[in-house]
Amino acid sequence: MEIDACGLQVGYGDIIVVDEMDIHLHKGEITTIIGPNGSGKSTVLKALTRLLKYRKGSVYLNQKNLQKFESKELARCVGVLPQRHSAPPDFKVKDLVGYGRMPYQSWYKGNSAEDEKIIDWAMKATGVYEMREKSIQECSGGESQRVWIATVLAQQPDIMFLDEPTTYLDISHQLETMRLVKKLNRESGIGVVMVLHDLSQALEVSDRIVVIKDGKKYSEGKPEEVITQKMMWEVYHVECEIVWLKGRKAPLIAYKEIC
Ligand SMILES: Nc1ncnc2c1ncn2[C@@H]1O[C@H](COP(=O)(O)OP(=O)(O)OP(=O)(O)O)[C@@H](O)[C@H]1O
Ligand SMILES: [Mg+2]
Repeated sequence: MEIDACGLQVGYGDIIVVDEMDIHLHKGEITTIIGPNGSGKSTVLKALTRLLKYRKGSVYLNQKNLQKFESKELARCVGVLPQRHSAPPDFKVKDLVGYGRMPYQSWYKGNSAEDEKIIDWAMKATGVYEMREKSIQECSGGESQRVWIATVLAQQPDIMFLDEPTTYLDISHQLETMRLVKKLNRESGIGVVMVLHDLSQALEVSDRIVVIKDGKKYSEGKPEEVITQKMMWEVYHVECEIVWLKGRKAPLIAYKEIC
């Protein structure tokens, strides 16, 4: 699925947060949006997935205007993991993941055998299958984050929008989630647009990176072209070196010592 957004202007109340933003997401690629806190990353993601209305500009998914999609049709194409989410506390893990199947069901029908198979697959892929009978309330922050990712997977969208998918996850689950995202992208051709704060992970997994600063696109391109010492200073005011280690496909970022 391709996304073509031109001249986006998005805001809240009287305040314009994102302006003159063009974003083109190529089919089957992993695009990562990076930028400082409050720069407008989540706002862009919300506008691209119709969770927030844009005031100016246009968004096309596969040449079809975003506004023209019916809700279920959009939910079959686009899966969204928002930065903040909540579920009714008495919801079981497997029921929340099952929610991902809704765009494929009529209101009066329960899960089909095919739905059950996909729900189980999504729970296994994210490592939450063993806790499927637990209520969401009983899950830790990281466990519940993985349940939400499973819900997006169960939706089997053409493109996944993941706003900080590794938040709350320990390093092992962060790496596992990134591997899963990469595997789904490579094997099923699912497009991915995500927001990450870990720039080393962004360097490693992304096909393209978009840098946002103060609601405007600062730069975009291949990871190693975008993540440079100059960008790190101009966007984050952080000193660092970009280090290539022998045998690694992507460089590492060595930040200036803290003290
Ligand atoms: N619901 C809202 N109402 C009013 N202002 C908002 C709302 N959500 C976000 N903002 C403002 O819009 C700006 C951009 O917020 P956004 O959430 O897009 O940033 P972000 O880049 O995702 O940051 P972070 O890395 O902290 O998640 C911020 O100044 C924020 O205060
Ligand atoms: Mg955000």
